[in-house]
Amino acid sequence: MDKFVVRGGNPLLGTIKVSGAKNSALPCMAAAILTEDELILENIPQVQDIETERKLLSSMGAEVELGYGRAQHRTHIKCSLLSDPIAKYEIVKTMRASSLVLGPLIARTGMARVAMPGGCAIGGRPIDLHIRGLEAMGATITQDHGYLEARSPNHGNGRLRGAHILFDKITVTGTEDLLMAAVLAEGETVFENCAREPEVTDLAALLAAMGARIEGAGTSTIRVQGVERLHGARYRINPDRIEAGTFLIAGAITGGDLNVDGCEPKHLGAVISKLEQCGVKIDVSESSVRVRSGGELKASNISTEEYPGFPTDMQAQFMALATQTEGTTIVTENIFENRFMHVQELNRMGANISVSGRTATVTGRTRLQSAAVMCSDLRASASLVLAALVADGETILDRVYHLDRGYENFEDKLRGVGAQIRRMGEVFSKNRRATDPR
Ligand code: EPZ
Repeated sequence: MDKFVVRGGNPLLGTIKVSGAKNSALPCMAAAILTEDELILENIPQVQDIETERKLLSSMGAEVELGYGRAQHRTHIKCSLLSDPIAKYEIVKTMRASSLVLGPLIARTGMARVAMPGGCAIGGRPIDLHIRGLEAMGATITQDHGYLEARSPNHGNGRLRGAHILFDKITVTGTEDLLMAAVLAEGETVFENCAREPEVTDLAALLAAMGARIEGAGTSTIRVQGVERLHGARYRINPDRIEAGTFLIAGAITGGDLNVDGCEPKHLGAVISKLEQCGVKIDVSESSVRVRSGGELKASNISTEEYPGFPTDMQAQFMALATQTEGTTIVTENIFENRFMHVQELNRMGANISVSGRTATVTGRTRLQSAAVMCSDLRASASLVLAALVADGETILDRVYHLDRGYENFEDKLRGVGAQIRRMGEVFSKNRRATDPR
């Protein structure tokens, strides 16, 4: 397993480019299932989750190029024939967002067999809201040996029916999954209490380009008029707001002067506002945000909320910054039940963080020391890299495959603005001296 070796102390200076949004690309790629025509998506990030989705679609019979080499930030997908509409557990267990094929498969083929995603490091990750919504649209869903068996009305020969669906909880992929089911349903579907994340709006824009009739994406109420079929499209997805936010914190925590380029500043409102409260200088232009040190960092509490509130996907990264602020920071995680896996690793680097339920209390400022640390999930991994950028000495981060799932060329981008970070493959870990406590 690859490791990162990071030597702290360098302020990040210069311009760093943002890639396409993984969490837009995943639902947009699943939307290819809804048409026989070819779908061409631009600005696709070269990250592991995208490769997993390519394999998933290919395993179902889609024509899709595999491997980054033939897909420089672009993917061509054609589902003219879905010979095997099954999302197999071997693939789903590596990426729970595979549940995003459930709605499109039923809408297109009348049936779906999707492995239950199971939980992950940050929580149980149920999909009961997806299931309840599909049942409201006339689908019959049963569980069978860890798989969801789903059929549209009339034993899979009929179309889903439009319905009025109010989500008990705001769910991003639940909104996306059911939106894709509704665009081919018979009649009108009204969704209430929808997720308003930019990734939902991105998907809705793609579906509209394919001929869908959708109103209200980006608001809590979305109205869909079902159509008989959708056609192909060429579409460019949004830049990744979480990658951009991660880089903003990298600039702030190292006391640098970093220009985060190719982002969408209006998707970063809560993060920018919070960084300004911490005393960081921020300059916003049309497609970039510049972050500079404003002197001593001040503590400022965060409470994760659905968009446009402070994103849960930025909580771990902000906690690393909080260790460098003067004062006490209260971090409240309202979205997931177990998203503090980074805390014990940060404390092993000298941070002073205590956890009680969904609240973590960070006492700063603490000098961080290098250590051998373990990555546990995508955003926790990013948090540990940010901490290592300011720690004394050389930090070794193990299991960086978690980070490779959602950040494209992370170490190369950071090295390009002055970070001392390099990746060590298997050879390094086998030859490493026995000092590593793992
Ligand atoms: C999406 O996950 C993102 N993933 C997550 O990003 C992100 O953290 C999350 O939204 C919240 O913003 C993708 O878009 C691929 P939810 P999702 O459904 O859709 C509960 C990353 O780091 N819930 O909005 O799975 C759920 O348990 C990843 O890139 C149900 O109870 O999250 C959670 O407590 C991590 N039943 C809350 O809702 C359901 O059927 C919000 O989850 C669905 C969700």
